[in-house]
Amino acid sequence: MRKKITVIGAGNVGATTAQLIAKDGLADVVLYDIIEGVPQGKALDIAEACPLWDSSVFVKGTNSYEDTGDSDIVVITAGFPRKPNMSRDDLLHANAGVVKSASDAIAKTSPNAIIIVVTNPMDAMAQLAWKTTEFSCRRVMGMGGILDSSRFRTFLAWELNVSPEDIETIILGGHGDQMVPIPRFTTVKGIPVTELLKKSTIDALLKRTSSGGAEIVGLLKTGSAYYAPAAAVLQMVKSIINDEKRLLPCAVYLNGEYGIKDLYVGVPVILGKDGVERVIEIKLIKEEKALFKESCASVKKLIKKLAI
Ligand code: APR
Repeated sequence: MRKKITVIGAGNVGATTAQLIAKDGLADVVLYDIIEGVPQGKALDIAEACPLWDSSVFVKGTNSYEDTGDSDIVVITAGFPRKPNMSRDDLLHANAGVVKSASDAIAKTSPNAIIIVVTNPMDAMAQLAWKTTEFSCRRVMGMGGILDSSRFRTFLAWELNVSPEDIETIILGGHGDQMVPIPRFTTVKGIPVTELLKKSTIDALLKRTSSGGAEIVGLLKTGSAYYAPAAAVLQMVKSIINDEKRLLPCAVYLNGEYGIKDLYVGVPVILGKDGVERVIEIKLIKEEKALFKESCASVKKLIKKLAI
């Protein structure tokens, strides 16, 4: 049977995600939004591109959760993006209402779905979606680390004048400003970047990475990043739909792993057809441990504010 993926929120991130899924022919796509006409119009436009992409998936836009029923994957992008000088955390209360209502609806209409949360502040929103749906934590996760990693890979590739494809890295912790990079596990085809670049250069690239979202908000002025976020979601969707079992940094529920309990935060996981198949625990050195703890504490603060 053909797979079905719903994208909640037909804005920049949602519509771009729907486009990538349809272009790759991964599954039928339902694009949902509260604004009348927008999901329908964008879905129709994407559907009309499918013949040119040799893709035979079905794409539909809707304002009704009924149409999203029995989805295999639901991607939540609904909510407000940042404006200049706003942090992701400033979006907390406005976006919590949106994510909660979407999660309530998904729990009723797609009780077996795997949920990927993109709405910011993403780690807290993933925890909220999990609490609201009461799904197994294996089926609720957030997208953040893949995007942070991709930004770092881009800046490293430019600095070293090598292909970003050859750069591997892993980023833990809360998304964006709170990320915890692991330079000693960052390599160019297996060669640690610590052998290739000075610490001060790596630190400068990491600083640009952690404020990578804000850099784009500052340039766009009326919205936040969406091409790379959507591409990061696609990597997760592909790993789940094709049961690829890729090792990807995602925000998942920690229940003792890394010494953290009852919190959604970014760690490396294996993603397959059942969602989060396992959390990969790497041994952190003292400084990394301290940064990770600090990052978890910031996410925990948001969870406290949400009182969930
Ligand atoms: N249900 C469904 N859709 C909603 C709801 C809701 N309750 N509330 C808002 N939306 C829709 C809006 O109508 C809009 O179409 O969410 C969409 C958001 O789109 P954009 O404003 O373009 O925002 P986008 O750039 O896509 O970012 C969405 O992802 O990366 C994060 O920080 C970003 O939290 C933000 C989210």
